[in-house]
This record gives sequence, structure tokens and C-alpha cells, in this order.
Amino acid sequence: LSTMHPDVETILFSEEDIAQIVQRLGAEITRDYQGKDLVLIAVLRGAVVFMGDLMRAIDLPLAIDFMAVSSYGSNAKSSGIVRIVKDLDMDIKGRDVLIVEDILDSGLTLKYLMKNLSSRKPASLEVAAFLWKDVEGKQAAIDPKYVGAHCPDEFVVGYGLDFAERYRNLSYVGILKPEVYS
Ligand code: PRP
Ligand code: MN
Ligand code: MG
Repeated sequence: LSTMHPDVETILFSEEDIAQIVQRLGAEITRDYQGKDLVLIAVLRGAVVFMGDLMRAIDLPLAIDFMAVSSYGSNAKSSGIVRIVKDLDMDIKGRDVLIVEDILDSGLTLKYLMKNLSSRKPASLEVAAFLWKDVEGKQAAIDPKYVGAHCPDEFVVGYGLDFAERYRNLSYVGILKPEVYS
């Protein structure tokens, strides 16, 4: 959905901004993964929209797979406890794995995933994050190789990002009005 949602205060990244960002990332990945055995792994559910766009911006043979993880509520999230709800269908041993994420906030989801996936002995393991909330004074647990854009420490929704499972279908990334979540 492209029209401004009444619950959205400001549009941070328009559909056009997003298309440009994704084209740039796709070109970088295409250049870096020449001759490699690329597997894109998206983290359900937030990353599905970015995954759909990014895979089509990469001009290389590639495979895709999905993982679903759950953190035990908001407290457990900051403790870094992550449970695999749906594992990969694919064996990634010896392959060049790129994890696709919509947003990197504390980085704890990705930190856990990196550790878990690296134990399966891929040839390489990197992260492509569409947004990075790298707020000053708050250290992210991991350092993504590909970053679409930096994002302020606000409640952002759209382009796969939800609040209480809503707004994922917005075609842009916007800041949610405070009265919606408070
Ligand atoms: C969100 C987002 C990232 C993660 C980032 O997922 O999509 O996966 O949180 O947070 P972190 O860097 O602090 O770990 P969420 O758990 O809300 O699930 P969802 O993708 O289904 O919305
Ligand atoms: Mn997610
Ligand atoms: Mg979410």
C-alpha cells in the first residue's frame, strides 16, 4: 500500500527511496558473490518483503531459504535467548550464506543466528540488513556487511516491519504515531 496510513506520522523511506537502496545493495552483492554458491536466508516474518525485492536485484544464480525464530517475550529478547521455530530446509555446509534481515536493532536476533549458522560450517556468513538502528551510545551485537540505511530510534513500520503484526504491507517505511502504541 503506497498511500499514507492514518497511523503513520512521517514517511522515512518512500517506495522510491527503497527501490534505490535495494538496487544498490543488489549491485554490491552481485559484485561480491561472483562465482560463489550464494544462499540467501531470510528471517521470518519481517524480512520477507526485503527478501522478495533483494533477490530480484541480484544478478547471480542463488538459492533461498527461511528461518523463523522467536524470542521469549520482550524481556527475553534483551537477554538474547532465541528459539528456532522453523529451521532451514537446506544444508549450508560449504556454501556462501547471506542472512537477510529487515532491521537490526539490539542485534541479538542476528548474533544468535550467526552463532547457530556458523556452527554448520558455511564457506562464508554475512548479513544484509535493510535498516540499522545504530543509535549512538548503544552498541549493536553484530556488524552487518550490507546495510540499506541507518534508521533513527523510533517506532518504524512498513516494508515488512510490524507493530502487533500490522503495517507490514505498507510500501514505505514510516514512523508510527505515538498514540497508536502508547
Ligand atoms: C524484529 C525484526 C528483527 C528483530 C530485530 O523481528 O524483524 O528480526 O526484531 O531486533 P534485534 O536486533 O533487537 O534482535 P520480530 O522479533 O519483531 O519478529 P518479526 O520479524 O516476525 O516481526
Ligand atoms: Mn524479524
Ligand atoms: Mg516484529
